[in-house]
Amino acid sequence: MIQPKKSEMSKHWRLNEKIVFLNHGSYGATPTIVLNEQKRWQLLLEKDPVKFFEDIAPKALIESRKAIANLVNCDYEDLALIENATSGVNIILRSLKFDEGDEIIVPNHAYQACRNTIDYVAEKSGAVVVTCDIPFPIQGNQIIIDNIMKCVTENTKLAMIDTVTSPTGLLMPFEELVGLLESKGVNVLLDAAHGIGMIPLDIEKIGASYTTSNCHKWLCAPKGSAFLHVRKDLQSLIHPLTISHGMTAPLGDSTRFRHEFDWTGTRDVSAWCALPFVIDEFSKLVGMNWNEIMTHNRKLVIKGRNIICEKLSIIPPCPENMISSIATIKISSKQVSITDLYEIDPLHEKLLEDYNIQVPVWSWPNPQGRYIRISAQIYNNEDEYKYLANILEKCL
Ligand SMILES: Cc1ncc(COP(=O)(O)O)c(C=O)c1O
Repeated sequence: MIQPKKSEMSKHWRLNEKIVFLNHGSYGATPTIVLNEQKRWQLLLEKDPVKFFEDIAPKALIESRKAIANLVNCDYEDLALIENATSGVNIILRSLKFDEGDEIIVPNHAYQACRNTIDYVAEKSGAVVVTCDIPFPIQGNQIIIDNIMKCVTENTKLAMIDTVTSPTGLLMPFEELVGLLESKGVNVLLDAAHGIGMIPLDIEKIGASYTTSNCHKWLCAPKGSAFLHVRKDLQSLIHPLTISHGMTAPLGDSTRFRHEFDWTGTRDVSAWCALPFVIDEFSKLVGMNWNEIMTHNRKLVIKGRNIICEKLSIIPPCPENMISSIATIKISSKQVSITDLYEIDPLHEKLLEDYNIQVPVWSWPNPQGRYIRISAQIYNNEDEYKYLANILEKCL
């Protein structure tokens, strides 16, 4: 089978030309102009590290927080720049105090690394993890809302809700859920790892206690760039994983939250410094504003999903309004005979080794089945999903 041609836009990325890359969702992929901008900051640092860390970087990082705040509508003073969403989840869970019997709600579609963090904290404190089952395939949002709200009791302290679920690619009704949970006194930790650059986010309007989002995924920023938003009324509870000078430094006209998160030791901050450039220049590069980019990617992944589902005679597992720019398809209701989550599915290897397709395939116990997840980013095109559909028809 002949491999599809790359789209014109793909020339702006460094992705291997021989690979049909349909997994933007896992780690993102960064365009060349952004990598060059990051390099520019790294070289600036090395010209005079003292001036850089004590003068240039603090100013630059204010601009980075302002650029992010502008895109997700919040006060830039409430944002901390962090490495990734896993750290964001850890910062919140490991800052909060849980007592024995406190309950933490987490849906069964949560990202495993974040689920591990909840389990770790619960085990140490005696808190109870309440797993909320959500079906997949799924007919609509109401069942998600009903099932999660049914888990709330007077002991519920926190709920971790995804914007878009990792294994099932579901765009959650997170705005409604946050409103309902917070109004019942449950603090919500919004895991928006798939968030900024993928779906519209209005942090002030959503009103979650805590929101963490990756910039290295759908914003196409350099790796290791993410943010954590903490609502003003909760900031005194939250501390970085690394305690540093900020704990005691004189406040000046800043806040303790700002001081603590702005300096957590010497590290490469170039990915964060590049954020204002990414937001402006990526949009110019592709000739679309961010809303148009999100719409474009969503339409493309829906087309891709339809192409695959039609070819394999599969009913799409969720309505289109539950899709953003990743889509999971259940290719079999049986798990392949693997014993754990971390074992590589032989189909994944076959697709990569024999057909040069990079796409995740895995089995899952709950909801049980074997799944494939496609992504759509500006560098993808329809022919790539047709190629995958043809190969899948052959392999399955
Ligand atoms: C829902 C969700 N949460 C958290 C993460 C973790 O992201 P990171 O590895 O950047 O911390 C991911 C990664 O794919 C995710 O999909």
